[in-house]
Amino acid sequence: MAERRADRVGVWEATRPTDVDVEALASLMIAAWGRQPTADEVSKKAQRLRAELQEIDPAGRAVLVAGDPTAPAGFCKTWRDEADPKTWWFVALVVDPNRRRQRIGMALARKVESYARDHGGEVLRSETHADNPVSILFHEAIGFINDGEMTAPDGDKIIAFHRRLR
Ligand SMILES: CC(C)(COP(=O)(O)OP(=O)(O)OC[C@H]1O[C@@H](n2cnc3c(N)ncnc32)[C@H](O)[C@@H]1OP(=O)(O)O)[C@@H](O)C(=O)NCCC(=O)NCCS
Repeated sequence: MAERRADRVGVWEATRPTDVDVEALASLMIAAWGRQPTADEVSKKAQRLRAELQEIDPAGRAVLVAGDPTAPAGFCKTWRDEADPKTWWFVALVVDPNRRRQRIGMALARKVESYARDHGGEVLRSETHADNPVSILFHEAIGFINDGEMTAPDGDKIIAFHRRLR
């Protein structure tokens, strides 16, 4: 039972490129979607992540990591909506395929909620592809309201979610 508890894996905020093994994180971001990442993919993603962490403004954006900085178990980002400062977004969530159903995703979501709330957020929004049933179940299980299917600007079918923070 203890293995499934969220608080077994700490979630923390990375604020500099040296806070975390960015290559390991880049690898996880690709492997989470069921693909074996190539060295080139990892290197390009790691480069983007490093650049993002280099100039991150904590008032409007955070990179959150679950677990060990050298072998992260999960990752997500949150950022303030450009048009509505009371709205924050929960994005880029991934959990290591070997560590799923241990409430790591939920721990990341809870950290995002407190981060957004601490920075004036009143609503947290998220989106997932309509053909990602696990993500839909996950969002609903952790308290997001399903706002239904819509078409993204790139034509993809997505499900929109929101959760009130206050
Ligand atoms: C979606 C994802 C982040 C969930 O992470 P996770 O750490 O495994 O999820 P949790 O253990 O915190 O799950 C919390 C609850 O969500 C629901 N849930 C999660 N995975 C589920 C699954 N495969 N089937 C059914 N329900 C599921 C359950 O209710 C679960 O609680 P329970 O285990 O007590 O039943 C993970 O599956 C993942 O990385 N998927 C690939 C990337 C992705 O789809 N990201 C989301 C894009 S928006």
